[in-house]
Amino acid sequence: MMPPDAAAGHSARVRDHLASQINAAGGWLSFERFMDLALYAPGLGYYSGGAQKLGRDGDFTTAPEVSPLFGACVGVQCAEVLASLGTGSVLEIGAGSGRLAADVLARLETQARLPERYWILEISADLRRRQHEYLEKRLPHLLDRVHWLDRPLEEPFDGVILANEVLDALPVARFRWHANAVEEMGVAILEKEFAWVARPADAAMTKICHELSAASGRRDDGGGWDDGYVSEYCGRVGAWTRAVTQSLRRGAVLWFDYGLPRAQYYLAERHEGTLACHFRHRRSSDPFANIGLQDITAWVDFTRVAEASREAGFELAGFTTQAHFLAGLHIDQEMRLAAGSDENLFARLANQARQLMLPGEMGERFKAMAWLRGLDMPLSGFTLLDLRHSL
Ligand SMILES: C[S@@+](CC[C@H](N)C(=O)[O-])C[C@H]1O[C@@H](n2cnc3c(N)ncnc32)[C@H](O)[C@@H]1O
Repeated sequence: MMPPDAAAGHSARVRDHLASQINAAGGWLSFERFMDLALYAPGLGYYSGGAQKLGRDGDFTTAPEVSPLFGACVGVQCAEVLASLGTGSVLEIGAGSGRLAADVLARLETQARLPERYWILEISADLRRRQHEYLEKRLPHLLDRVHWLDRPLEEPFDGVILANEVLDALPVARFRWHANAVEEMGVAILEKEFAWVARPADAAMTKICHELSAASGRRDDGGGWDDGYVSEYCGRVGAWTRAVTQSLRRGAVLWFDYGLPRAQYYLAERHEGTLACHFRHRRSSDPFANIGLQDITAWVDFTRVAEASREAGFELAGFTTQAHFLAGLHIDQEMRLAAGSDENLFARLANQARQLMLPGEMGERFKAMAWLRGLDMPLSGFTLLDLRHSL
């Protein structure tokens, strides 16, 4: 954790940078741009700066931070694909602390299915450094297989692309339904503080919001949602998905994240959207607090990911909950394998498995989605519950 003085100083610098960007843009910045800068402005944004971010001493916890069982199961799923291809590589996007990479590699090693290479595409220079340190400590003998990228891989390869909680970290546009019209929510400075200011949406945003409203089952004859309805969408998912998956010639893409199919995402009762900020394990919906020190996320519209992946030339191979994904890959056996005869460790792993799988914890909110290209095979993680029809 950053010392309080350093944290306050860092936050003030990020705030100044954002304020100068708002002024340079004429006094108003779209929320999408604001979120992009707050998270990724080089050297300043939450992910680019030096805060701890993940795990117990950070701001939020992800499945690989909860338990090595998550990575073990993902490793088994990767091994199935690599076995079917004969050989191949793995590309992980947004690797956080590096734990998932280490757990996947360790499990692939025990199955004698090590990938030729394990690429990590990571936007944050700070996290690339932390991942290197972590992997060097955990798996020094495998370090020469791991390669870091700061932009999408161009070299074609066969294998697996995977990402846990990266889609939810992509900047989103925020909109409000007001007097039967669409407004774009942006950020201005009022009385020296950042504040939400809405503007009439352009034609492109208006069209998108009408489509989302129609998908939620509401009338699309101008009725839309109730007045004041606020939500988000991630307009860059399409271009981003295409860019990060273009190099995969044959193999699978595995997305893990919290989110919903579109029809549920944009239900009238979810009228405040899904934007959430995380600071030292406290959740809020205020993106203007703790700027540069807190994570800002939005739930994933998996229907949008499905549209984007299909356009990028992939076949939908599975969509299920995290709990069913882990059960399909026999997390119970993974527990036994990891614990051996250590009953204390087994009890700890069993607790972690509950956190990963219980519906009130991460089991249902989090989804797993699989796409295949140039390959047709069943994937064990997606055999127990098939939610593809909901997309
Ligand atoms: C919420 S963290 C998840 C980390 C890790 N996957 C986990 O589950 O613990 C999001 C990660 O994605 C990275 N990231 C965000 N946007 C990215 C992008 N456009 N390309 C590559 N990495 C990105 C962040 O720097 C961070 O490592």
